[in-house]
Amino acid sequence: MIHYFQNFLYLLAAVFFIVGIKRLSAVRTARHGNFLASFGMFLAVFSSLLSRLDYELILSGILIGSSIGIFFARKVKMTAMPQAVAILNGFGGISSLLVASAEFLRNPRVELDTSISVGISVLIGGITFTGSLIAFGKLQGIVRERSVIFPGQHILNVIFFFISICLIGLICLDYKEMEALFGFFGLGLGQEALPANQIILTLIIFSLILGILSVIPIGGADMPVVISLLNSYSGIAAAMTGFALNNHILIITGALVGASGMILTRIMCVSMNRSLMNVLLGGFGTKSQKSSSDAKEIVIKQISSEEASMMFDTANSVVIVPGYGMAVAQAQHSVRDLSEFLEKKGSSVKFAIHPVAGRMPGHMNVLLAEANIPYTQLYEMDAINDEFPNVDIALVIGANDVTNPAARNDTSSPIYGMPILNVDKARSVIVIKRSLNHGYAGIDNELYGHDNCLMYLGDAKEAVSKLVSELKIYA
Ligand code: TAP
Repeated sequence: MIHYFQNFLYLLAAVFFIVGIKRLSAVRTARHGNFLASFGMFLAVFSSLLSRLDYELILSGILIGSSIGIFFARKVKMTAMPQAVAILNGFGGISSLLVASAEFLRNPRVELDTSISVGISVLIGGITFTGSLIAFGKLQGIVRERSVIFPGQHILNVIFFFISICLIGLICLDYKEMEALFGFFGLGLGQEALPANQIILTLIIFSLILGILSVIPIGGADMPVVISLLNSYSGIAAAMTGFALNNHILIITGALVGASGMILTRIMCVSMNRSLMNVLLGGFGTKSQKSSSDAKEIVIKQISSEEASMMFDTANSVVIVPGYGMAVAQAQHSVRDLSEFLEKKGSSVKFAIHPVAGRMPGHMNVLLAEANIPYTQLYEMDAINDEFPNVDIALVIGANDVTNPAARNDTSSPIYGMPILNVDKARSVIVIKRSLNHGYAGIDNELYGHDNCLMYLGDAKEAVSKLVSELKIYA
């Protein structure tokens, strides 16, 4: 009876997850979606606890885990979010690996489908764990951020992967089947089948090495895509563990995480005009990226805060384009002050959000929401791009690649084909950044040499605050 009730609650939890994720897709409904999904998770945990379990052990785990989680969640800076997500994915992977191997050791070679699920869970869980640790290390500056590439690397990865698949095959075989297999290769087997614990241990070691090998060739700047992919892997590993344990809710949640991580990875690749294979093979950013605009000397026009404020004083429409530099400078609160000031004096102020501005999905949305900028002022790239020709000032704050017209015009550019925000089509463009330094793609931005573009050089937070102070003088 309890079993049916448990499954009913699992089904209910799954409905909450799906509706929650659906509502997360729009800013207006996102908070509600988050609440629904959390409630679904509460139901799932509650339902799992209905089984006869060792409650003392579980309670201690919850207490220790939650305390560590709360401590780090409060401590982690907004700019360190990508590595926080990376490490959490890693923990998801190692949990799947541990649970699946424990289940297998408790009950080795029971049924073929269970053994296959255990094998896949261990393999993907291990890759996710060490891959995420490397991704964390690269973003945190503990591990060399640049790509680590050596001859024969990809072949080595293929060999390791092939051996891992063979090991998964071995854990599925009983003595007779193993004897036949070894006999086929002219090898003898002792009195017994190979011990299950040794095979699973070898598989764990191979999966952990594979995780390291597959992430070291990828440069630090590509880590957000890798993290999203590893997030998807952690979901697949969890779903496989669900099959091994015959736990329906683990299968459902794992599949949801796996699928959504995969979709997000694809969106990021499309927005950067890169294929997933291109990201995974690594090396982006190791050679100096050249485009024809790099060959030309870019002559810029610089303005002071006073000149910029005079321009804003007469502007009727302003579109603000935030980028990675705004996140680094933590300028979002000063940007809100500027936006409020301009709106009060009667200008229309909109924010144009590029899908890969910053270093993680939704990076800009999170920062602007933190500064209480109403989401009704936020426009996605496709919704605002046609408006730029009618905009008086496009104010670019710490964004670079996502505004580079070379992506439209220069076939030799490494970012050619990447959709960009058409700020160059605005009547005037004011760019706030500290220097002419490159962005993530490592190339010059031809926008800075355009006639309508003015550079207001400085740290984003200081520059915007100074601009607001100057504007107040004019008011
Ligand atoms: P970027 O092109 O990386 O440019 C950021 C600019 O911010 C730099 O040129 C830097 O110039 C400036 N900056 C840094 N610190 C600053 C500060 N304190 N004050 C003012 N400016 C500062 O950024 P973007 O335009 O947001 O583009 C994002 C890039 O990351 C894209 O190429 C995208 O493909 C890539 N990427 C994004 C994601 C996601 S999911 N968002 C994932 C992977 C890769 P200075 O040093 O001169 O100040």
